[in-house]
Amino acid sequence: MSATDLPKIELHHHLEGAAPPALIRDMAKARHMDISGIFGPDGGYAYRDFAHFLRVYEAATSVLKEPADFARLTETVLERTAAEGVVYLESFLSPDFCGRCDLSAWHEYLHAIAEAAADAERRHGIVMRGVVTCIRHFGPDAARKAALCAAETAGDFIVGFGMAGDESKGRPRDFAYAFDMAREARLGLTVHAGEWGGPQSVREALADLRVDRIGHGVRAIEDPRLVDHLAETGVVLEVCPGSNIALGLYRSWADHPIDRLRRAGVKVTVSTDDPPFFGTTMTREYERLADAFDWTDDTFAALNDVALAAAFCDEDTGAAIRKRLEGKNA
Ligand code: ADE
Ligand code: ZN
Repeated sequence: MSATDLPKIELHHHLEGAAPPALIRDMAKARHMDISGIFGPDGGYAYRDFAHFLRVYEAATSVLKEPADFARLTETVLERTAAEGVVYLESFLSPDFCGRCDLSAWHEYLHAIAEAAADAERRHGIVMRGVVTCIRHFGPDAARKAALCAAETAGDFIVGFGMAGDESKGRPRDFAYAFDMAREARLGLTVHAGEWGGPQSVREALADLRVDRIGHGVRAIEDPRLVDHLAETGVVLEVCPGSNIALGLYRSWADHPIDRLRRAGVKVTVSTDDPPFFGTTMTREYERLADAFDWTDDTFAALNDVALAAAFCDEDTGAAIRKRLEGKNA
């Protein structure tokens, strides 16, 4: 089967990070905002390194003002993601970018996003669920506000809580209160770690935040004992190889540790992170992985099994997705 046609599950995806540059340019123009500096000569997002990437990302996001903007973003992104063969998507939604974590504003943004997602499900068959995500470099107080937004809206659509942002800022334990709130609301938990931080950042995230999944986590490969621990405990890594390569963490696909982690028994999954920022799509990730490591359709099917078991959605949704993966209509 062609890589596009293979059914896919994607667990690590930032909604704003998936905004096509043309959409952001269009919205900026309508609002008379000059953000031309974030684009390169080819019209794509341009950044020098990870710190600069975060600034460009936040500048792009700053044009998304109203709930209707997020509805348009969701509609655009889901149409494209469905065309990549993705049948189930968990997307990171940040209350910080949706009314600055004000709870009543968050309800309005979330309503707009969830409506657009329901519409995309009817039209394109893609099922999306939201993982409320706080931003590490905005600090623990903002994280608590985001966790409150998550806890207050936990349910069929909001199924998880996570943390993205600059891993060099603060320690996981500074954010334990926010993660405890989310855990009490029965949300699934994930945190970005082991991307810019080394193995110790993964150990701390597991010990102090007691998460179910790790966003990235690839630098665990630098500590064989941690690799064994991940394999034994079944912690799931949301690996985004194209993102890691575009941001300069690894020089090439052949250098990327995803295959070594998988062979060591670690539960890995594949996602795009912020596709237009990294010139990637789920199909491209599959094609590059097949080229670099001889992964076959069976390898990808096994990856989907891992991803579905680690998905934060309810059992009925999971069962319906399982049928889609098996080629049966749910
Ligand atoms: N936010 C969006 N993409 C991210 C990444 N790769 N790492 C940390 N925070 C992010
Ligand atoms: Zn991410």
